[in-house]
Amino acid sequence: RTVYVNGEYVPETEAKVSIFDRAFLMADGVYEVTSVIDGKLVDFDGHAKRLERSLSELEMRNPVTMDELLEIHRELVKRNDLEEGGIYLQITRGAPADRDFAWPDPDEVPSGIVLFTFAKKLVEMPSIKTGIKVISIPDERWSRRDIKTTQLLYPSWGKMMAKKKGCDDAWMVEEGVVTEGTSNNAYIVKGNTIITRALSNDILHGITRAAVLRFAEEAQFKVEERDFTIAEAQEADEAFITSATTFVQPVVEIDGAAIGTGKPGDVSLRLREIYIEESL
Ligand code: PDD
Repeated sequence: RTVYVNGEYVPETEAKVSIFDRAFLMADGVYEVTSVIDGKLVDFDGHAKRLERSLSELEMRNPVTMDELLEIHRELVKRNDLEEGGIYLQITRGAPADRDFAWPDPDEVPSGIVLFTFAKKLVEMPSIKTGIKVISIPDERWSRRDIKTTQLLYPSWGKMMAKKKGCDDAWMVEEGVVTEGTSNNAYIVKGNTIITRALSNDILHGITRAAVLRFAEEAQFKVEERDFTIAEAQEADEAFITSATTFVQPVVEIDGAAIGTGKPGDVSLRLREIYIEESL
């Protein structure tokens, strides 16, 4: 693959970053994952806006303009002949001369930036037919989950806890209610109503979430942005998750309890179809 590192397109085997890079030492970086279908970026503007917000919340500078960023995304799709998959983008607080808890002066230490593509079947995902199984775990992340940082050890650990139990992912619970999945937003469906936690600093403001809720309303579904418990989810007709790397993905089991019929639900599959149609 050709990747982009600090202003240059290079083969991935030649890409280098400093061992002092603050993303490496302190997880001091933000990221975005934008999906690609048919060689086209899905909702680049949404990802660009969220990136701007993550950067500004952390007082980090963007080393490129948004126009340049779009150009780099397009160039990587082209150079790698990417038809379907995504682009990972990371901006870090750069590489100071040494490790220090205090942030370096951005005039002296410029932000670092890397992007790479990955191929993945998104439209015909094998797990859509079966749905996924999730476990619940306490949400032990820091409290600014609205910022998309590279601080991903707890979500990664959660994913491993799920795998150890023969499941696919974990839904995190705080004060008795679900926040979100390890790398996705969480939903339940009751009749014609789609229920998902309201936006706040407690969850990531999913770009797929925003689109799916908009399409759901256009398709005459009811949307309720509110808290729900694992018990309520287990009693729901359907459950699903959304993210740039899964789109709408049905959930068929939570903590061992089958959801609805135990098969991917009609509403979830319908929303997935609409999302893909609208994104093509
Ligand atoms: N994750 N919540 C969390 C904690 C996430 O990490 C993500 C995305 C989402 C969904 O956001 P979006 O719809 O904008 O992808 C929700 C990406 C895909 C990842 O970490 O790979």
